Amino acid sequence: MKKEFLDLGRQPIANKFLKEDEFNEEFFFDLKVVFDEDTKLVSLKEFVKPELMFNEDYVYHTSLSVPMVKHFKEIAEMLMKEFNPLTVMEIGSNDGAFLKNWPNDYTIGVEPCGNFAKVTEDMGYQTYSEFWTAELSEKIKNDGHVDFDLIYAANCICHIQDLDDCFSAIKNILSKKGIFVFEDPSLLRMLERGSYDQIYDEHAHIFSVTALDNILRKNGLILFGVDNLSVHGGSNRIYVRHANIPTDLIPDEFVRNNLQKEKEFGIDKFQIYEIFAERVEKSKEDLCKLLLELKESNKKVLSIGATSKSTTVFNYCGIDESLIECITDTTPDKQGMYSPGSHIPVVDRESVNLNDYDYVFLGAWNFKDVIVDKEKDFTENGGKFITHVPEVMIFS
Ligand code: TMP
Repeated sequence: MKKEFLDLGRQPIANKFLKEDEFNEEFFFDLKVVFDEDTKLVSLKEFVKPELMFNEDYVYHTSLSVPMVKHFKEIAEMLMKEFNPLTVMEIGSNDGAFLKNWPNDYTIGVEPCGNFAKVTEDMGYQTYSEFWTAELSEKIKNDGHVDFDLIYAANCICHIQDLDDCFSAIKNILSKKGIFVFEDPSLLRMLERGSYDQIYDEHAHIFSVTALDNILRKNGLILFGVDNLSVHGGSNRIYVRHANIPTDLIPDEFVRNNLQKEKEFGIDKFQIYEIFAERVEKSKEDLCKLLLELKESNKKVLSIGATSKSTTVFNYCGIDESLIECITDTTPDKQGMYSPGSHIPVVDRESVNLNDYDYVFLGAWNFKDVIVDKEKDFTENGGKFITHVPEVMIFS
């Protein structure tokens, strides 16, 4: 029984930056969110065809983010030390930020975006440029690969619409004592922070530990560990093994604590989602009011970070170039393009003088500390930041 609780309006493909001559043919869909009373899973009501989001034009390069490269090196070292896997597979291997920490003779990648699959192939890692499905897991087995001791996925499993197919595929190819480790944005952190911009086309689901516990069990898998992470505005790293094979990997106190914390918050009750929806509405009103006031007093506003998250915010709140003049982003593929739906120009940070602006909106609020630290000169010259998380506010 799926119940709708949030409508974020017509939205484009969150990571599809455009040229001006592409505006007319831009794809839009209804971004609505539902809660499943049975599994407690939060998902999009309407899924977008994966091929429209994950293809040769995909622009999110993990390796361009210094904090994320460090994050993947650290997790690879920890997994190596703790579990010493002999065979490793990453699902959603992007440009190899995680893979490159493993020897390429026993590590493979799965990456539907052809541009990135080529990068990791060139690094010497066999990469299947396909979506993760039960059929692909069979194909990999038929190609002669032994079952994997470690299957890893970061910011990828929540993209997969059919979770039963996804988890049965994992079960099919996970070695007897193998572990499956994945990390994705945390529903609890999103609800606590009011960060509704975690919701966009790619995030078919926003996971709670509670829902994952239910769905993994249904598929013969068991969750035995949880790490709460600060990356991507608050994520959970989930550790999974086969349910029916005896092992000393039993659910630890962190699993129990996370389930307890979520229960206390009310994550299994529809009412909590209705309260969240009211908070989202208020965030929109506050942000629109603030930006309109700044416009009326001739203040200049720019945004830092052309993120998928800011696609949701700008399209939901109806923010365009008249309210936010431009967006700076460090990703070369986004520069010289326009933001999805809102059509705000995206430029290289080096091409603008922040001191020509009065306010900077934090499109990449999850990197707040890094950006505020980098842009000290702006605040020292009287510039101010705007964020909408946990609520709309100005700070310097
Ligand atoms: P993410 O929130 O999905 O990780 O995306 C962050 C985006 O923000 C990415 O396109 C890079 C960009 N960015 C900047 O432009 N400047 C910065 O200082 C940081 C940290 C990120």
